[in-house]
Amino acid sequence: MKHERIVILTGAGISAESGISTFRDQGGLWEQYRLEDVATPEGFRRNPDTVQAFYNERRRQLQEGVEPNAGHKALARLEQHYPGQVLLVTQNVDDLHERAGSCNLIHMHGDLLQAWCEVCHQPSDWHEPIEADSVCPACGTTGRLRPNVVWFGEMPQQMERIQGELAACDLFLAVGTSGQVYPAAGFVELARSAGAHTVELNLEASEMNSAFDEHRHGRAGEVVPPYVEELLGAP
Ligand code: OAD
Repeated sequence: MKHERIVILTGAGISAESGISTFRDQGGLWEQYRLEDVATPEGFRRNPDTVQAFYNERRRQLQEGVEPNAGHKALARLEQHYPGQVLLVTQNVDDLHERAGSCNLIHMHGDLLQAWCEVCHQPSDWHEPIEADSVCPACGTTGRLRPNVVWFGEMPQQMERIQGELAACDLFLAVGTSGQVYPAAGFVELARSAGAHTVELNLEASEMNSAFDEHRHGRAGEVVPPYVEELLGAP
C-alpha cells in the first residue's frame, strides 16, 4: 500500500453529472443569484423569505430524481476497499456521497437536509420546506429555523478535525472544486506542507492548479473511477 492516510476534498463538480448546478461554471448558481443575497447571514437577516425559498427549492430538487453518479460511487468504493484510511471532506450540502455509500465523511459547509435552530443551536433532520411557522424539533421554538448550511462569513464545520487529518495525510485529492473559496482552497497547501502527494481531479485546471503535484482533467464520472482503480490495484 503506497499511502496510509488519504484525504479527499470534493466540491460541486462531483455532483454536476447528477444534475446539480455548480456555483461558478457558466449557468452556475452564482450567475442566477447574488451570493450576498442568499449565502450570507446579512442576506438572511434582510430577506429571510428569499433565502428560505432558495434552499427550499434546492432541498426539493435534491429529493426528486437526483442520484449519485460514477464519481460518488468510486469514492465510496475506495473507502470500503482501501486498506488504509480514507476521509472524505465535502463542500457540498447534498447527500449524494452518503447515498453512494461513503461513511467517513465531513460536510464542512453543512447539510441541506438539516435545519438549524437559532435559539437552541441544534441541527435536526429536515426534508420539507422550512416555513415561517416551522417548529424546532429539539426545543419547540417556532419560526427560528434556518438551513444547516455554512454561509460566507461563518466558520465551516469540524475545522479542527479536518486540519488534524490534513496534517497527518500522505495523499490529498481535490475533486470538482474551483479552489476559489477558503479555507477549503488552502487544504492543498496544508497537505503539501505535511509531505502529502497532491492530485487534482477536475474538469479543467482550477485556481489552485499549480499547487498540485499531479492532475487528471475531465468529468468526475470519467476520471475518478479509473484513478480509484489505480489506487486499489497499487501494490
Ligand atoms: P464551483 O462551482 O466554484 O466549482 C466547481 C468546479 O467543478 C469547477 O472548477 C468546474 O470546472 C468543475 N466541474 C464542473 N463540472 C465538473 C464535472 N462534471 N466533473 C469534474 N469537475 C467539474 O464549486 P465549489 O468549488 O464546490 O459555498 O465551490 C465552493 C463553495 O463555493 C461551495 O461550497 C459554496 C460556493 O459558494 C458556500 O455556499 C459556502
